[in-house]
Amino acid sequence: MESRSVYKSAGEKEDLTGISHRVSQITVSAIKQMPLLASKVPGCVSLGQGIPSPNTPLFIREAVIKALQDDSAIGKYSLQPGIPKLKDLIAQDLMRTRNIAHVNAETEIFVSCGGMEALAAGIATIIDRGDEVILNSPSYSSHIEQILFAEGVPKFVALAEGEDWTLNPDALRKAITSKTKALILCSPSNPTGAVFTEAQLREVAAIILEHNLFVILDETYDFLVYDNQPYFSLLSIPELKDRVIAACSFSKRYCMTGWRVGYMYASERIIKQVLKVHDAFAICAPTISQFAAAAALSGTNGKDGPGDESVKQLMETMTRRRDLVCSRLDKLSNVFTYAKPRGGYYVFPRYTAKDNIGSMDFALRLLNEAKVITVPGNAFGPTGEGHIRMSFGAEESELTEAFDRIDRWLAENN
Ligand SMILES: Cc1ncc(COP(=O)(O)O)c(C=O)c1O
Repeated sequence: MESRSVYKSAGEKEDLTGISHRVSQITVSAIKQMPLLASKVPGCVSLGQGIPSPNTPLFIREAVIKALQDDSAIGKYSLQPGIPKLKDLIAQDLMRTRNIAHVNAETEIFVSCGGMEALAAGIATIIDRGDEVILNSPSYSSHIEQILFAEGVPKFVALAEGEDWTLNPDALRKAITSKTKALILCSPSNPTGAVFTEAQLREVAAIILEHNLFVILDETYDFLVYDNQPYFSLLSIPELKDRVIAACSFSKRYCMTGWRVGYMYASERIIKQVLKVHDAFAICAPTISQFAAAAALSGTNGKDGPGDESVKQLMETMTRRRDLVCSRLDKLSNVFTYAKPRGGYYVFPRYTAKDNIGSMDFALRLLNEAKVITVPGNAFGPTGEGHIRMSFGAEESELTEAFDRIDRWLAENN
């Protein structure tokens, strides 16, 4: 696989003496490298990492402040799989949002350090050296590192760029070999903004059952689907129960990226095994953040709670930002072509550059010369080359400034 490290493209050398093969072959994802490189370039604006700009909703912060004053449990380890009250609330939320008849809060959920830990721990639990894992290209860059860390082999299946990055179940089926152990799906998708349809996902479900595979679901952006389209999750298909490992997050839904709290939902058998990994790496998710997550879900009933209100506002904000970014890209149609995001807050435009430069160099030039942070497309899999990822999590003023700078830079350089 091509280098996925921007540091390497920027000429940085690593000393790998004594470092395990497992770790030597992975990289800090370009999504995180770009802000680090940018911290040395004064005055950058960001279309980089996917951070929703609003503060964590007040009702969540106030509940945590109160708990800090009244409840000494908040400063201690929680039970290793998570606080029982939070797990109960998660079970209720899953049953409501995914139409699942029954979730056993005690045995089928564990609270993780963000969705990220749930994904890494899930992959490490089921993947052995040489096992193949099918993922989309483009796909979230950390999925690639998580598979490699488990010494699995990523097998990329291209999304259909010309058709809004649609999932192609037939292509998925063709990629299956005797070594295939699992596939990873992320919808709404980072970095493409694709939302997979129920019909496509039902076809994928049939393939999973036919080939006895695991499916790892990354449902970080479950709440963020635009234009009143339906959201469908494979969790709603009861027959898949023993095959599904789902990673979910509080980071984006409640603007809680820094709290580092998410969870896994899977069968009791799987959760029991994943908890060994969770214990080895984290013991438990931060207790203070579990209190915050419990406050968030206590205020969410699918209708009129403060959590529902904050999610609704976030949807409205992100819809405005999506439209802003798309209208700016439309004005640059000589350079960028893109599919309008249907969910999440990323757009993944293809660029044309007169010197045909690769996406690492394109993103580095945007950073150093235009002072705009983006993420190079080749960090997201082989068909990501020739693209950059733009996040529209930032304030509208920052998005506008970023595009003003890109306009000027292109006028000077293209
Ligand atoms: C697709 C996807 N999965 C997982 C994560 C990690 O989320 P968390 O903050 O819950 O660890 C992100 C963060 O941007 C993401 O975009």
